[in-house]
Amino acid sequence: MNIVLFGKPGAGKGTQAPRLAATLGVPTLATGDVLRAAVQAGTALGREAKTYMDSGGLVPDAVIMGIVRETLASPIYADGVILDGVVRTVPQAEGMRDVLKGLGRTMDAVLNFDVSNEEIVRRLSSRLVCSGCQTPYMSGSTADACAKCGGKLVRRKDDEPEAIRHRLEVFEAQTAPVFEWYRAHGTKVATVEATGSVDEVTARALKALGR
Ligand code: AP5
Repeated sequence: MNIVLFGKPGAGKGTQAPRLAATLGVPTLATGDVLRAAVQAGTALGREAKTYMDSGGLVPDAVIMGIVRETLASPIYADGVILDGVVRTVPQAEGMRDVLKGLGRTMDAVLNFDVSNEEIVRRLSSRLVCSGCQTPYMSGSTADACAKCGGKLVRRKDDEPEAIRHRLEVFEAQTAPVFEWYRAHGTKVATVEATGSVDEVTARALKALGR
């Protein structure tokens, strides 16, 4: 099963991805997590990605598709993938189609997590993430440790007000058209109301997938 989790920054893709992965039995690929790990490790990929990420802009499609191609070739992903944070541009949608075709697969569904801009700003302004495993937290302080791995909780640079504004603009201009692209290409698309409790959103997402 190959699924795209789609939605504005802060819509809850990273919160829902591991829950859906656990129920559906397929692993996740979160390009933002891969890029942040590369930035932290100071690799060439991280150095290239950092300036785009800090300002809330998109990392070039060729870089993203390199990550996707390499990751999906791993046997771990033989039964499918839950994509979190990719696909974000029409060229990425076209690239993903080609990568999956090369593996004899197609995209099964795109779930659009729908949240208002006001709620996005509220969520991202108070979010902390674990610097180790990237788990997001709705509340807490930078003095707290991650409940999952004990890592330090930090505020993401792109959760500053100016970067949040820019990310929402980038979403409208470059990412929103991807949903229509999938609809036009015959992929099952569904919009999931992504407010309410995290459990409620998971239940709606699974229902949209027919589970
Ligand atoms: P990425 O890490 O993918 O960021 P994003 O898409 O902007 O999404 P976020 O991680 O901010 O939000 P989310 O939807 O995962 O929400 P979360 O679950 O954390 O990408 C970062 C950057 O990397 C990009 O800006 C770009 O530069 C680059 N990049 C990555 N992929 C790329 C690509 N494919 N192409 C080009 N560039 C790429 O939830 C948010 C908060 O809300 C949390 O605090 C959470 O606890 C809380 N929350 C979750 N659910 C609920 C709920 N139901 N009610 C209340 N609060 C909730």
